[in-house]
Amino acid sequence: MSTISQDELKTLVGIAALKYVVPGEIVGVGTGSTVNKFIDALASIKHQIKGAVSSSNASTERLLALGIQVFDSNDVQELSVYIDGADEIDHQGYMIKGGGAALTREKIIAAQSKQFVCIADESKLVATLGRFPLPVEVIPMAEQRIIRQFQAMGAQAQIRMCDGHALVTDNGQHIVDVTHLQITSPLQFETQVSQWPGVVTVGVFALQKANVCLLGTPDGVKTLTF
Ligand code: A5P
Repeated sequence: MSTISQDELKTLVGIAALKYVVPGEIVGVGTGSTVNKFIDALASIKHQIKGAVSSSNASTERLLALGIQVFDSNDVQELSVYIDGADEIDHQGYMIKGGGAALTREKIIAAQSKQFVCIADESKLVATLGRFPLPVEVIPMAEQRIIRQFQAMGAQAQIRMCDGHALVTDNGQHIVDVTHLQITSPLQFETQVSQWPGVVTVGVFALQKANVCLLGTPDGVKTLTF
């Protein structure tokens, strides 16, 4: 049995991601417990970077609290690197993201970045995407129709709740979580579902897949390239 905890694996990959940060530039920063470790590590080199573009209010608060300047994505044309976690990643670098409900801003920043570095512990590596409930950010007036569309595919879908109410994202929308999916063609799936009216963002990251994955394992950090 491994003596290294999942939390320690997250810390390891958070630190390992520092070497992808380009001095003097703005770095794209994702959301989640693994990225929080990266943000904490980033504070140690904060004087070497210009600042960050952040994918969520939560990450922005953490960056600012550590004295790292946060830029609006509209004020930055292109980022050299975006560093973020994933809920699942496969052997091609395709991912499911959005467990933290930040998928839309994550996809926007990934799209404006030259390189996506995914940081994850080894529990996130899968052969086929779909074990983790797929988050889909939706316009509330379309959510029941979207749920029926997933049911027609043989999946199950439900609105994500928080304290007895539908969770509201940083963008003022809702999240539908979809189970009983086997996403064997991530590119095709992302393209198809993205076209449904009312879908803001589907949590499959195939067009914006990872270029590198720093995977935390009991034997150390493994670097996967795609
Ligand atoms: C946030 O919306 C997600 O895409 C996160 O990247 C994902 O949930 C990973 O989070 P953890 O690092 O907390 O597992």
